[in-house]
Amino acid sequence: MKNPTPRTEQHLLCEVVSNVHLAPINPGHFRLTLHAPYFAELAVPGQFIHILPPSENDLLRRPISILDADPESGNVIVLYRVIGDGTRLISEVRQGDKLDIIGPLGNGFKIPDRKSVALFGGGIGIPPLVYLARKLLNAGLSPGNALDRSIQVYLGVREPEFLICLDDFTNLGINPVIYTETGLSKIRDHYGNSTPTINGGLITKAFDDYPDNWEHTIIYACGPVPMLKAVSEHADSLGLECYVSLENKLACGLGACLGCSIPVRNSDGTVHYERVCTEGPVFNSPRIAFDLM
Ligand SMILES: Cc1cc2nc3c(=O)[nH]c(=O)nc-3n(C[C@H](O)[C@H](O)[C@H](O)COP(=O)(O)OP(=O)(O)OC[C@H]3O[C@@H](n4cnc5c(N)ncnc54)[C@H](O)[C@@H]3O)c2cc1C
Ligand code: FES
Repeated sequence: MKNPTPRTEQHLLCEVVSNVHLAPINPGHFRLTLHAPYFAELAVPGQFIHILPPSENDLLRRPISILDADPESGNVIVLYRVIGDGTRLISEVRQGDKLDIIGPLGNGFKIPDRKSVALFGGGIGIPPLVYLARKLLNAGLSPGNALDRSIQVYLGVREPEFLICLDDFTNLGINPVIYTETGLSKIRDHYGNSTPTINGGLITKAFDDYPDNWEHTIIYACGPVPMLKAVSEHADSLGLECYVSLENKLACGLGACLGCSIPVRNSDGTVHYERVCTEGPVFNSPRIAFDLM
């Protein structure tokens, strides 16, 4: 597949504006704002930055999606969960420190001309959908599900602490529908009436819970592979166009090492490999051979 996002990456030292721990609501999650005018100007939703963890050891860069980018202030925001050494080291940077970053990287989401869209975000797959939602609103779509050219947002989490970016969506005038695998009452107690719908179970229940919401809708999803596979299958069974953004482990992030390759099906059923960092991370979901991943 051709990459519709032109390659514009640069290798830059970016100043940390803030790096805020989101405890107690989202312990282990950090919101990092960087002064990075070049990335802020050129990034599109679905792209990521490749951050070198500050360390004396030779660590690989860590890919983190762009949550928002503001060309006016020159700031770029990302939100990450601390998983291992790389994200732990990034969580230790402070205002005024410099981070070594390559970006913006990858092939972003297309903004549709006519249709409505439904965004499905799971866990740390949620942040890039904030930027996408904002750009969709700028392109003339409206929050809701009964309108032509509307945006619906569904967020799925394993536990209440993983429910991130809710305020980002509500500040855009979008009230996401939430699915949680555990701690339903905890989320209800915390958010009360400020969020409209909080359900128990997996995010894919939305397809059954809201059977009337999908006509003329394109699905965009980002999250763990099992979730993306399930969302793609539902979209396929409803005949909906669907794009998913993968968050695999990356090494070079620049298309050179092939370490991030995933199986992609050709129209004759044979398989070839494409790179998440370069041809992706956003893929038209029927192309992905999920059964071989
Ligand atoms: C496009 C993209 C966007 C992402 N966006 C976000 C986001 O917005 N927010 C967020 O929280 N997370 C995001 N992630 C996931 C995030 O990159 C990982 O959680 C992070 O890299 C984990 O690093 P770590 O060192 O903390 O954890 P670890 O699990 O310790 O690090 C990964 C380990 O695997 C090793 N490793 C990494 N890549 C490879 C490789 N290719 N081959 C072999 N070993 C490897 C590392 O050296 C390290 O030891 C994104 C991932 C991708 C691909
Ligand atoms: S991470 Fe090296 S080719 Fe994608």
